[in-house]
Amino acid sequence: MIKLWMAPGGLHVEPGEARDARDLARIHAQSFYRGWPVEEFARFLDDKASPVYIACDARRRIAGFALIRTVLDESELLSIAVDPKWRGKGIGRALLDAAFVDLMHSPARRMFLEVDEQNLAAIRLYRKLGFATISSRKGYYPRPDGSAATALVMARDLG
Ligand SMILES: CC(C)(COP(=O)(O)OP(=O)(O)OC[C@H]1O[C@@H](n2cnc3c(N)ncnc32)[C@H](O)[C@@H]1OP(=O)(O)O)[C@@H](O)C(=O)NCCC(=O)NCCS
Repeated sequence: MIKLWMAPGGLHVEPGEARDARDLARIHAQSFYRGWPVEEFARFLDDKASPVYIACDARRRIAGFALIRTVLDESELLSIAVDPKWRGKGIGRALLDAAFVDLMHSPARRMFLEVDEQNLAAIRLYRKLGFATISSRKGYYPRPDGSAATALVMARDLG
């Protein structure tokens, strides 16, 4: 089955492949204080339990990705990031909408995520897509200045 979902800006969303590891690590490093190595992304891309969705153009130039891990009936959004040049154009929303549709074919019934309570752009995106805060974790995210930020735990039903 070919999996392909439309996205704004002439892009589309499709499953990530092994060859994408380097691009995903680059976008991740542009987006987070602590980047993950290329090998980490290669492992996720090689594992059916961690589906990756990429937003890209017809030449497979990648603008963003969402990485999910599914265990039995629960999915976790491990990471989502959009290249700074592409933010605010609906790409993050398109990535998650594609994941929700695709996961309807899996046993996953609920999706969880953690987000820095100060990351207002991400929290807004998640709320718009139906996530609600179910708890919080103090001291979860290390900051460059040695302090640590609180994470909100959010959840949404799937399908
Ligand atoms: C969070 C992130 C993935 C959003 O991706 P995006 O493609 O820019 O988001 P979209 O354009 O799809 O926006 C969808 C909704 O999110 C909210 N949103 C996105 N960016 C926002 C911003 N800068 N300020 C406020 N709300 C914002 C809005 O509600 C928006 O809906 P609207 O356009 O109808 O108002 C992107 O900002 C990013 O990569 N950030 C760095 C990495 C990160 O923080 N990831 C989440 C970690 S938990």
